[in-house]
Amino acid sequence: MSRTVRAHTNIALIKYWGKEDDNLRIPSNPSLSMTLKEFYTDTSVTYDASLEEDIFYLDDILVEGKEKNRVVAFMDFIRSRYQLKEYAVIRSYNHVPKAAGLASSASAFAALAKAATLDLGLDDKELSRLARQGSGSASRSIYPGFVKWQKGSSDIDSYAIPIEKKWDDVIMIACLINKETKNFSSTLAMEKTAKESVYFDAWVKQSFKDIDLMEEYIKQRDIKKVGQLAQENALRMHASLLAVNMWYFEPETIMILNRVRELQKEIPVYFTMDAGPNVKLITSKAYKDVVLEAFSDVETVVSEQGPGAYVL
Ligand code: PMV
Repeated sequence: MSRTVRAHTNIALIKYWGKEDDNLRIPSNPSLSMTLKEFYTDTSVTYDASLEEDIFYLDDILVEGKEKNRVVAFMDFIRSRYQLKEYAVIRSYNHVPKAAGLASSASAFAALAKAATLDLGLDDKELSRLARQGSGSASRSIYPGFVKWQKGSSDIDSYAIPIEKKWDDVIMIACLINKETKNFSSTLAMEKTAKESVYFDAWVKQSFKDIDLMEEYIKQRDIKKVGQLAQENALRMHASLLAVNMWYFEPETIMILNRVRELQKEIPVYFTMDAGPNVKLITSKAYKDVVLEAFSDVETVVSEQGPGAYVL
């Protein structure tokens, strides 16, 4: 019997955007995220000596093509790193709107990294290093709460570490304006930014400053400073992307950003955005109802901090 691993998504307060080494997935800058309770992926991996290739089901549907190739490439990597021989049946159930900037790849590859290596009993640091090879943000989904992916300079030292397990007061409210698959992948967008954006160097330089400040603000439990900096950091990331003629903004995205800016005059609520048009709001539990009321015409999901990857 294979066991199922659950890994939760995370949303970065300081974004990972750009790679120093594409093959090893070494980022250009450190990043910092919050793991979310509401969104997760469940995965089981059953090795079978009689198989001639990996078989991948997502939500009970057999997957072929590009999506499967990415999973198989990661399984090949695992087999070669740990001298495993057998192919496997991989079953995943996604409780995340796929590829719409809600980081389904983070929970997917964190769950897969752990599920595929359960018998090896890897520690979290090793799992984080491994998950990084599947998807950069997956390195952070191994841990609960607030997590930092230290940049590192090689495969050995580029992994995430937990920095603050619990800060119960902070919540994220995902505004789901578009569950359709995004126009272009984060991989493509960040590669183009790193290669061509005239703002890329400034982005990298600033994010080193941002991450130190963010760690400090989290320790101080200062929601205003945390939210304000997360918002600025997200805008800086998207500005670097705009400079290569690419964006994830949809009309509804802008509508939400404008509304947050209005609300900000009264209460501490801030936004962040990833590689998709959805917006994630950062606020305190005390303001949850006011914020939900202001966005009653938008589909929202409220989430607290979630746990690290674990066996169900
Ligand atoms: O892990 P990837 O390759 O899906 O990249 C994630 C990039 C962002 O979500 C935009 C930022 C981040 O740090 O999660």
